[in-house]
Amino acid sequence: MVAHSHQTLPLHADVERVLISRERIAARLDELAARIAGDWEAGGAGEVTLVPILTGSIVFVSDLIRRLPLRLRVHLISVTSYPGKATSSRGATLEVERSSLPASLEGRHVLVVDDIFDSGRTLELATRLLAGLEAASVRSCVLLDKRRPREVTLEPDYVAFEIPDEFIVGYGLDYDGYYRNLPDIVTLKRGVIDPAAEPG
Ligand code: IMP
Ligand code: MG
Repeated sequence: MVAHSHQTLPLHADVERVLISRERIAARLDELAARIAGDWEAGGAGEVTLVPILTGSIVFVSDLIRRLPLRLRVHLISVTSYPGKATSSRGATLEVERSSLPASLEGRHVLVVDDIFDSGRTLELATRLLAGLEAASVRSCVLLDKRRPREVTLEPDYVAFEIPDEFIVGYGLDYDGYYRNLPDIVTLKRGVIDPAAEPG
């Protein structure tokens, strides 16, 4: 069964091609972190509160924070978007785990971190909620920005890579919960994605 192939085959057998290698990711993160740290120091904002959105940002944020020589704290929040095996966020309902939000961000300079800016609705929602907690400033940072028509007006402040409108996994990104542990950003072979789960 196609839908179960990821349970029985080695992970790499499902990979079509490497879109962004681990070496390119590492090199780009050096640049991006230097820019963020530079902006923060120049802005004199002092402490930064990183707010990574679970679960897709875990690998990215762990690599990013180790490159940021800033006084920082991390507060994970939980936003669920993709319903199960669909690869498009069209029509997906976003759910923010209210209990994951900090009680207050008063006076804090926040940097929201997510894995990918697709429709942009997740980052838009998170940014709006965090700003509502009285943060002094809210900026955003994403690993990937998909080139596709925007559904929101918000633009991420920091982007590591722009990618074509293709479904990718690895380096924290999943398909149906799997493949987050692949060290490179890759596309999946056709047979791996369940066509019955796609919208429209
Ligand atoms: P948005 O709200 O449409 O911007 O969707 C953002 C979320 O959708 C991300 O945090 C990912 O969890 C998921 N997502 C979007 N595109 C992809 C992809 O190509 N691969 C895996 N997950 C994706
Ligand atoms: Mg996801």
